[in-house]
Amino acid sequence: MQELIKATIDFVKKTLENAEAGHDWFHIERVYKTALTINEIEAGDKLVIALAALLHDIADPKFNDGNEELGPNVAEAFLTSIAVDTETISHVKLIIQNMSFKNSFDKQAFSSKEMQIVQDADRLDAIGAIGIARAFTYGGFKNRVLYDPSIKPAQHTSKETYKNTTAPTINHFYEKLLLLKDKMNTDKGKQMALERHNFMVNYLEQFYSEWEGK
Ligand code: ADP
Ligand code: NI
Repeated sequence: MQELIKATIDFVKKTLENAEAGHDWFHIERVYKTALTINEIEAGDKLVIALAALLHDIADPKFNDGNEELGPNVAEAFLTSIAVDTETISHVKLIIQNMSFKNSFDKQAFSSKEMQIVQDADRLDAIGAIGIARAFTYGGFKNRVLYDPSIKPAQHTSKETYKNTTAPTINHFYEKLLLLKDKMNTDKGKQMALERHNFMVNYLEQFYSEWEGK
């Protein structure tokens, strides 16, 4: 098992060499570590969790013309090439296909303990201190303003409006980040999310206070 994980780490590091900061190797490493932390309590299949965490952003549709099948297919081809068993490969592929936030607007087609753990770990990386840093990095990459008091946050009910927003980065907190704590699957994930959530609430309070010159 360790050799398969090691080979996957090398592959992912190499593939993500030129990725932008929000989705780089370090994001993958954090999700991998967090998933293993949650799994200390959940006791799921460690190989499935490790491989899914490591490969979950191998080809983000945002940077690949919206192609949502590319990532799962790249993962499958790689795992086949290092001779992972077919049952593990299918499970990892299903996790990658179903785990993104945008897809949560559609009825979730697949779930398993391992999927829930990796999804929690990915969501945890979108909140707290790191989540804040990632949001502003993404906003900068898209040339968004930090905040504009005249533009109110939207309630996204579909994948399309969520994907096409050009709103200020602060709006992203209301459109996604502050909603994540109630979407966590595992008890450990919920506990970690609450701590990070409270940090963001305090952050926003300080942000508005500074915005007003106080
Ligand atoms: P997922 O893969 O779960 O759908 P994304 O790829 O949309 O998640 O998000 C990856 C990272 O980029 C997260 O940290 C997220 O908060 C951030 N991000 C995504 N959309 C925006 C946005 N409109 N403004 C600021 N940050 C964003
Ligand atoms: Ni991710």
